[in-house]
Amino acid sequence: MRLPNQKLARNVTLINLLVSAAALSLACAAFVGYDQISFRRGMVNELSVRAQIIASNSVSALLFNDAASARSTLSALRASPDVIWAGICTVQGKSFALYERMRTDRIPELPAIPPGHMESHVFSSGDIVLARAIAFRGRLLGIVYVESDLSVLAQRRKEYAGIALAVLLASMVAALLVSWLFAKSVADPIVGLAALARDVTQNKDYSVRAVPTGRNDEVALLIGAFNEMLEQIEQRDRALREAHHELERRVDERTAQLTHANKELESFSYSVSHDLRAPLRSIDGFSQALLEDYDAQIDASGKDYLRRIRASAQRMGMLIDDLLNLARVSRATIQKEKVDATALAESIVVDLRRAQPGRDVDFRIEKGMEAWADPGLLRIVLDNLLNNAWKFTSKRDHGSIEFGFRRENGGPACYFVRDNGAGFDPKYADRLFGAFQRLHAMTDFAGTGIGLATVQRIVSRHGGSVWAESAVGQGAVFYFTL
Ligand SMILES: Nc1ncnc2c1ncn2[C@@H]1O[C@H](COP(=O)(O)OP(=O)(O)OP(=O)(O)O)[C@@H](O)[C@H]1O
Ligand SMILES: [Mg+2]
Repeated sequence: MRLPNQKLARNVTLINLLVSAAALSLACAAFVGYDQISFRRGMVNELSVRAQIIASNSVSALLFNDAASARSTLSALRASPDVIWAGICTVQGKSFALYERMRTDRIPELPAIPPGHMESHVFSSGDIVLARAIAFRGRLLGIVYVESDLSVLAQRRKEYAGIALAVLLASMVAALLVSWLFAKSVADPIVGLAALARDVTQNKDYSVRAVPTGRNDEVALLIGAFNEMLEQIEQRDRALREAHHELERRVDERTAQLTHANKELESFSYSVSHDLRAPLRSIDGFSQALLEDYDAQIDASGKDYLRRIRASAQRMGMLIDDLLNLARVSRATIQKEKVDATALAESIVVDLRRAQPGRDVDFRIEKGMEAWADPGLLRIVLDNLLNNAWKFTSKRDHGSIEFGFRRENGGPACYFVRDNGAGFDPKYADRLFGAFQRLHAMTDFAGTGIGLATVQRIVSRHGGSVWAESAVGQGAVFYFTL
């Protein structure tokens, strides 16, 4: 956001100028208008006085038909430079005497005197003509016309316009000065406040404060409220940070407690599993001893029971071994290095083929796959996934297993093992990774259900994750990252 420099002050100046210009123009127009009207009125009065003098001086001339005397009366108008034409006509409307400042033989437009009036006048563009009845003892003898030019009026109008312009200019200067003073006292602090608000939003620094004006007005109130708001935000920010630290400290504390508890649990289950093996070995050993040494004394069903005891003891032994392996995987320290995943998978495949040479399974293993992992643990992961694929394709006439990897949008490498085996209901896809969780019957596919739990433990200890996609009868894909 860019703050327009002193836009507020500029606007105020503009408004100031407009308002004063409008007010002054109106005042000047009213004043000039009034002056013109009263000046015209004055002119009419002056002309009327002159016409009256001429009228009273011309009575005898008209009575005695003495045109020369009337002309001499009119010629007295020479002393008034604004009178340009005058004339006296008889009551019959005949011209009796004329006066012209300059000879033009022009007759101006003459006003008619309305009945019952002694006088009348008419203004045209450049002059005024006044008519005055000449009467003697109530009898109308004639009419005197006096024409005055209006150049004085125009001159006066020009002068006033000049004065109005000068006043207007002076008031503009005054308005500018007022605006400047306003900018100093009001706009500057507000502009400063706006700049500060912009800084605060950009830098999120709530420790800054606006400088008080030291006055006792609305701007000062605004600055005070703004500073107060900043103060509150800063306090809340601080409280939030403290709460955050406290929370982090508590999480660390709990994590440490949990890690400790987890370790204890692991070592407990490790020693329990370990200790279970000895009595189990005794059960198996003594059952075998019974079978071998008391062959004659024990009948067929007794021998069958003993064999079942042995089978269960052995299966339990396997479960315990798996559990111990899982515990070992969880405790082992990880040493990552560059591992040739392709070679690792290929060696596992060799073992699988060797164990069941009769099966028709097609393996596709991508070339040149490398992983940054603990080689021993990565082997366990691949061993479990490829063993599962091998196992769950065992009911297919032709098995197909693929191990490859892909990398999406520069993310971590995602490895996958795909098979065309029995598949599983995707509803339970998450459950597979829990210990002893199996989705297939023991009679269909043997196993203890610890393999994927181990895989997950290893993958998560590498900082990766594992998930699966499948549908019943459609094969399965297991993905993992490291
Ligand atoms: N490739 C697969 N195809 C279909 N189902 C699978 C596949 N891999 C795993 N599962 C399902 O997930 C279950 C758990 O697998 P997991 O490897 O943990 O156990 P397991 O193979 O049964 O036994 P173990 O690996 O401990 O000998 C399996 O019992 C099976 O139901
Ligand atoms: Mg398995």
